[in-house]
Amino acid sequence: MTTAHTAPEHVRGAAPAPAPRWTVGRPRVGDGAQLWRLARESGTLDVNSSYSYLLWCRDFADTSAVARAEDGRPVGFVTGYLRPDAPGTLLVWQIAVDAAYRGLGIAGALLDHLSERVAGTQPLDAVETTITPDNEASERLFGAYARRHGARVSRTVLFPSAAFPAPGHEAEVLHRIAPLAF
Ligand SMILES: CC(C)(COP(=O)(O)OP(=O)(O)OC[C@H]1O[C@@H](n2cnc3c(N)ncnc32)[C@H](O)[C@@H]1OP(=O)(O)O)[C@@H](O)C(=O)NCCC(=O)NCCS
Repeated sequence: MTTAHTAPEHVRGAAPAPAPRWTVGRPRVGDGAQLWRLARESGTLDVNSSYSYLLWCRDFADTSAVARAEDGRPVGFVTGYLRPDAPGTLLVWQIAVDAAYRGLGIAGALLDHLSERVAGTQPLDAVETTITPDNEASERLFGAYARRHGARVSRTVLFPSAAFPAPGHEAEVLHRIAPLAF
């Protein structure tokens, strides 16, 4: 499933800027390197090895999605998996959008597309993710997703700061969005 979008037009001065076109769909192994770049350039995500993004695009493509510019280049992605002990729960691992494409609704569209695609193949009743307390954009993104789907958000600390080996890592707060119905 690939979904096409035209972003709202933004007016700069007198001349309207062209509205970027983008689509969302499944990742391919060939996207792995660009996903790693997007994570590295996000400024906030933990950057995993490039190998892990390649592997994710191969083995977890069913529970991940990318947004592509017109030339096919990924400009956003969401990676996730179904929790082995709770297969009705989609854990969103990372989500990022190229800085030049932010504010266009791409991250929200990625979450909607992914959860609807997963729900089309098996029962899905919850989305979980972890967010650090200072990440307002992420709070807003997942809060808006919960409102669109008529679900509640519950918050509990999953990994306190002290659980991380390096000092200074913020706590990761689990956001559970449920119940979901598709
Ligand atoms: C978070 C991120 C993915 C949002 O991507 P995006 O495509 O710009 O988001 P959207 O346009 O779909 O916006 C979704 C919602 O978040 C809100 N939002 C997005 N960026 C925001 C910001 N910087 N500050 C406050 N709210 C923001 C939008 O207003 C919208 O809410 P609304 O529907 O109530 O208006 C993007 O800013 C990013 O890549 N950040 C760096 C990586 C990161 O922090 N990832 C999340 C880690 S859990």
